[in-house]
Amino acid sequence: MISEKIWTIKRLLEWTTKYLSEKGISDSRLNAELLLCHTLKYKNRIDLYLHFDKPLRQSELDTFKTFLKRRLSGEPIQYIVGETEFMGIKFKVDQRVLIPRPETELLVESVIDLCKKYKKSQIKILEIGTGCGNISISIAKLFPDSEIVAIESSKLALEVADLNIRNHRLSDKIKLVFMNIFDDIPKYKNFDIIVSNPPYVSIDEYQILSDEIKNYEPKIALTDGKDGLSYHRRIADIGRSLLNEIGWLFLEIAYNQKNAVVEILENLKYFNIEVFKDLSGNDRVVKAKWSR
Ligand SMILES: C[S@@+](CC[C@H](N)C(=O)[O-])C[C@H]1O[C@@H](n2cnc3c(N)ncnc32)[C@H](O)[C@@H]1O
Repeated sequence: MISEKIWTIKRLLEWTTKYLSEKGISDSRLNAELLLCHTLKYKNRIDLYLHFDKPLRQSELDTFKTFLKRRLSGEPIQYIVGETEFMGIKFKVDQRVLIPRPETELLVESVIDLCKKYKKSQIKILEIGTGCGNISISIAKLFPDSEIVAIESSKLALEVADLNIRNHRLSDKIKLVFMNIFDDIPKYKNFDIIVSNPPYVSIDEYQILSDEIKNYEPKIALTDGKDGLSYHRRIADIGRSLLNEIGWLFLEIAYNQKNAVVEILENLKYFNIEVFKDLSGNDRVVKAKWSR
């Protein structure tokens, strides 16, 4: 970076946007704004525009340079700034957890839709593989009459989920449980809904994911190390004893898993199976009913 001229917010944003774009980083303006907000400890990007002509101190420029270098080496912007947005809600994230994806909002919206139609005063929900807690926290905020148990097998991810649950003051609504669902099943039963965005990338597809994902996000959150369907099979199987006499299962799936997951569910006697497409037109969420 040239240092003789004064670096105002405006000038630094323009320079960084161009630089990131030349280096092949998409959404370069957004990246530049987020990095600068983080450097200056601004809460909102609008603050940059309110202080467009503010010159940066040398210490701020040095910090900014460090963040920029991390971004250029491929680290996801969400890990650098330490947070992300999901369902319009802010969540702390770092390398201990998967970064919540926009497609997963469809999973939450489908659950909320059912909750709103369901005539029950308290709805008991089990989430499997909570990561940073984004699904459970969004449901608890958008449907306050819910009571949630959230399972996670990574102790590191649990620390992040716990932090987010406390930040959102939802400790009385969401109970975190450390458990590997292949070794154990929750002792709490009679859930009305089970929801999960499980690690569903097959090991073959995992190998060809971008370095930005493979080098930074937890492998255990992405792939089952097999055909990508191990979690759907296990969750559908244990779901039969965990759900109420009548209950619903909501699973996120990969674009190419619809037929296989529907078959798994039909074989286990789930019914009224529906598949919802995400905004890109890919099959993304499977909803199935269970009745004993
Ligand atoms: C795809 S991530 C989903 C994270 C978050 N719920 C979301 O939607 O962004 C899957 C999560 O399942 C957890 N997980 C993996 N294997 C598990 C297991 N055997 N039992 C419980 N959780 C598991 C991972 O650590 C990870 O946090």
